[in-house]
Amino acid sequence: MRAASRQNEIHIEQLNKSYAQQTSAGDLHYIIQDVNLAVKGGEFFVLLGPSGCGKSTLLSLIAGFVSKTSGQVRVGEKEVDRPGQDRAVVFQQADSSLFPWLTVRENVEFGLRMKRIPAAKRKDISNQFISLVGLAGHESKYPRELSGGMKQRVQLARVLSNDPAILLMDEPFGALDAMTRRTMQRELVRIWQDTDKTVIFVTHDIQEALLLGGRIGIMSAGPSSKITDIYEVPLAYPRDLTDPAFHALYNQIQSHFDE
Ligand SMILES: Nc1ncnc2c1ncn2[C@@H]1O[C@H](COP(=O)(O)OP(=O)(O)O)[C@@H](O)[C@H]1O
Ligand SMILES: [Mg+2]
Repeated sequence: MRAASRQNEIHIEQLNKSYAQQTSAGDLHYIIQDVNLAVKGGEFFVLLGPSGCGKSTLLSLIAGFVSKTSGQVRVGEKEVDRPGQDRAVVFQQADSSLFPWLTVRENVEFGLRMKRIPAAKRKDISNQFISLVGLAGHESKYPRELSGGMKQRVQLARVLSNDPAILLMDEPFGALDAMTRRTMQRELVRIWQDTDKTVIFVTHDIQEALLLGGRIGIMSAGPSSKITDIYEVPLAYPRDLTDPAFHALYNQIQSHFDE
């Protein structure tokens, strides 16, 4: 069992975000409004909502990539005001995050090199995560020689080898073919179960949310999106798609998005 850990807890209170300039008093167009959320250390939390509702915006606020308009975002005791090594982000498109002039292994080892981990140790770690994501044998290839799914797996191996306390994942498997996607979903759950990482995983796919999440936060359609409901998923991993309880939850969650 994982011990609850304070420094990978996330607390969000009365969080508002507008990209617009204020035109007159109180006249702000909020992307997300009055978001409150507490994620415990070691939790696998899914943010589920329709396209354009503000999921990436919320994740970017937790990552410290964009600044809030008002409210609070805390990781552990600390107010988030910039990106930090405690929070790693995995994006949908790996292309923008891999270095095209580095091989698979060099990409995966990049953060370890920055932390001045000795070469032998780096190699141990990169071997572990390269094989975990199923890329053993491809260590010497360059990103241009890889499919989209392989690039995504390099990105995941690189993030995991840095061993961040918090993993922020923004539709990371959205561009993968269905089979690779299922493998990655299973692997991610396994990795998460083996560590005390807190995961916040963004998706617009109900099935994916139910395969992965311990809790699922439902975001309303924007503008002024908020987390309207939180579902506990009382199903054991690996989740069984044929379980009637899975279907019941699926339908219950689907009803939020029926209009
Ligand atoms: N940098 C930005 N400047 C202005 N508007 C933005 C910016 N980023 C996102 N938005 C707007 O915020 C809303 C939510 O976007 P986003 O967080 O990407 O949603 P999601 O990830 O749920 O699809 C959209 O209307 C989008 O156009
Ligand atoms: Mg998005």
